Amino acid sequence: MLILGIETSCDETSAAVIEVNKKKIKVVSNVVSSQIAKHAPFGGVVPSLAAREHVKNLPMVIKQTLGKLTIKDMDLLAVTSGPGLISSLLVGTAFAKTLAYKYKKPIIGVNHMEGHIYSNWLRSISEFSNKKPFPALCLVVSGGHTQLILMKKYGVYKLIGETVDDAAGEAFDKIARILGLEYPGGPAISKISEVGDKEIYNLPRPMLDSKNYNFSFSGLKTSVLYLVRDLLKEKGSTKLDPKTVSNIAASTQEAIVDVLVKKTVQAAKEYKVKCIMLSGGVSANKLLRKRLTSEGEKLNLKVSLPKPEFTTDNAAMIAMAGYFNYKKKHKYDWNKVEANANWELV
Ligand code: KG4
Ligand code: ZN
Repeated sequence: MLILGIETSCDETSAAVIEVNKKKIKVVSNVVSSQIAKHAPFGGVVPSLAAREHVKNLPMVIKQTLGKLTIKDMDLLAVTSGPGLISSLLVGTAFAKTLAYKYKKPIIGVNHMEGHIYSNWLRSISEFSNKKPFPALCLVVSGGHTQLILMKKYGVYKLIGETVDDAAGEAFDKIARILGLEYPGGPAISKISEVGDKEIYNLPRPMLDSKNYNFSFSGLKTSVLYLVRDLLKEKGSTKLDPKTVSNIAASTQEAIVDVLVKKTVQAAKEYKVKCIMLSGGVSANKLLRKRLTSEGEKLNLKVSLPKPEFTTDNAAMIAMAGYFNYKKKHKYDWNKVEANANWELV
């Protein structure tokens, strides 16, 4: 079957067509129109600006992703209906519902976080279609969420732990801002960490030894804030030199990755999972991918990483989650899909 996915939950306007049958999962096309340049001067996403950009770009993005195909060729429409910025979600859901109404197509609302989890299925030949990876432990790390979710089977989830304050991506973004780096902070910190020395500054690893699988990143942000304030005072300067910035960035990345990997591996042992699955925008982080893979291998565990192009927000993962939630016998009318900014998966 052919599925059109639509994603507008935050600041990426995306549409994708995927083809799924018993033998294959194929991403026919996945178009992402990034708004990063529009929001960068503000140091973060401006909701009203994001919604306006979605309105402007979504028709073209859909047209581009369809290529020679038409909506009539689609068997299902899948649209992100939450969680996210309500103004952004409303644009995507209203547009998708209009298409479903006009072309009399079934439409399904998809949870954005479940979409991230299913980014792991987007492979040309699905490793998972024959061999089921369950129980799997999903580490979902994005700009708004940091969750450890036990996936018992398709659509059955249990929350094992989550952040009690900032999300991992949020920590990257806020610390980057303190360091005077561009938005979004994750890729910026990751890039300059390559030339930084992670040993110079020893930053805290909050909740590393707590007896649960929760995370906390706001203390780390405060530590960096105080460190920068003290260094500037010491040097009598208003700006850190590039070497110091890259050293702090490398220590930040090390601290965040350390906590994420150690807690995930501990939980994987306790819950005796078959597979660890990484997803969410922070899963683009090379150090996190490398460290999680090597620690998983030590336990003889398969570690599944989404392809780099499907780590940050994209509509292919939304189409994939739509496929796994779609049951042919049910009715999927346009008027059943509602945007819900606070839709929690678990
Ligand atoms: O999943 P996503 O694209 O959007 C949300 O659903 O939030 O995640 C965006 C987050 C941002 O906080 C961004 O800084 C972070 O993912 N991110 C990274 C990297 N690439 C994106 N964090 C660390 N390293 C990266 N390479
Ligand atoms: Zn996301």
